[in-house]
Amino acid sequence: MPGTPVDLTAAESTRVAASVLLPLVAQGAIIRRPRATAWAERHQTDRRARAVLAGLRDRYGDAPLVLPVGRRRLVVVTHSRDVRRLLEGTPAPFTPASFEKRGALAHFQPDGVLISSAAARAVLRPVNEAALQSARPVHDHAPAFARATSAAMDGLVERARPAGQFDAADFTDAWWELVLEIVLGAAARTDRRIIDLLDRLRRDGNWSWFRPRRPWLRHELEHRLAAHLDTPAPDALAGRLRPAGLATAVSQVPHWLFAFDAAAAATLRALAVVSARPEIRDRLRAEAARAGPGPALLPDARACVLESLRLWPTTLAVLRDATRPTVWGRRTLPAGTGFVIVSAFFHRDPRRLAHADDFVPHAWIDGRHEADARMVPFSAGPAACPARNLVLLVASHALSRLADQDLCVGRGRFLREDPLPCTMDHLALRFGIGAV
Ligand code: HEM
Repeated sequence: MPGTPVDLTAAESTRVAASVLLPLVAQGAIIRRPRATAWAERHQTDRRARAVLAGLRDRYGDAPLVLPVGRRRLVVVTHSRDVRRLLEGTPAPFTPASFEKRGALAHFQPDGVLISSAAARAVLRPVNEAALQSARPVHDHAPAFARATSAAMDGLVERARPAGQFDAADFTDAWWELVLEIVLGAAARTDRRIIDLLDRLRRDGNWSWFRPRRPWLRHELEHRLAAHLDTPAPDALAGRLRPAGLATAVSQVPHWLFAFDAAAAATLRALAVVSARPEIRDRLRAEAARAGPGPALLPDARACVLESLRLWPTTLAVLRDATRPTVWGRRTLPAGTGFVIVSAFFHRDPRRLAHADDFVPHAWIDGRHEADARMVPFSAGPAACPARNLVLLVASHALSRLADQDLCVGRGRFLREDPLPCTMDHLALRFGIGAV
């Protein structure tokens, strides 16, 4: 039985807007703003957000919290029962194509599945699932992906060795080359104009409806993608979209490229923790030695990436809009109501999770986290991330390869022991080589 939503007072609404929603928007929902993420880490904004939501949950007994935002009414849910209802009730009566997401994503992927209509989704979702092989832990192209990942991480370390260190920007450069190779094929590796265009459009996306569209940039991006997709390399991921037609392939790939940025953030943060904790690093090394070269599943490394995503979710909030009036306890909320699941609040809920702020990758292996409806780093239900398995494969191989180096992390003293910081600015991470 869903709880009856409560209207927050003006003071409470201001507190939620200032402490929960504003930091999410300021950091950039579509591409992180470096100065804002540094500010968020300095102020540990997620700690404050959690305290505000926990206080309101205690006060209103798990009821959804209703607040006005501009001309819209947003409902922030605080109970796992409501998380499940929203995600399982996708795409109707709760569409993932929320007002805010449509405004943001249309800058660079107006026809992406995430913001598509129900009719288009019925076609595009299976196309994405088939190409990404959502149900398979190891994609058919995994041998090529694993090879490319190892080579990219080795190259990063070799380039960094003379200086004895690399930072998040160096990692990101190596990462984008890898992503271009995986998604579009080896010939696209150096086509950095694609990433440059995407970054510019994503920066527009951060401003959602408030920034005018720049279709000429999007057309250039699509034109470049079409050139690579016209005759795709045999093991390029996007080649798997070609049976759906060139136009469909071009329309879905911008989301894929954009979303690999989240995988970089998750890998960097996992690497930071692993580099600060020799016992975990040794476990990953032993796992890699047992697995040998190739596309093996690496359960320990995979669990470290998942744990990084639990502690520092890259999708800061999962949004849904009601497509029709929906009944919540004794209230009916109108069509168009927006719903917000603040990922970090559920992932680190100290009331229900004894190890809320600790690094416990094993809880992903023994099934505790997988069975927990509050853990939504990849969302859940019919619009859950169709690339979850693929992302975990690539990120775990990258992490494992780098864990094999003697890395130390710049802010290791904050990461060596639990509890871990609520907010971590991955863009400011820096690693030393051979100094452990
Ligand atoms: C760490 C990396 C990633 C994370 C944490 C992540 C997370 C998510 C989340 C939370 C959603 C659902 C949003 C919602 O429910 O509103 C989503 C959707 C999606 N993701 Fe990912 N994602 C990642 C990487 C990727 C990659 C690399 C790809 C493609 C290669 C991808 C493809 C998609 C697609 C196509 C959707 C839309 C699904 C739909 O609307 O049915 N994601 N992702």
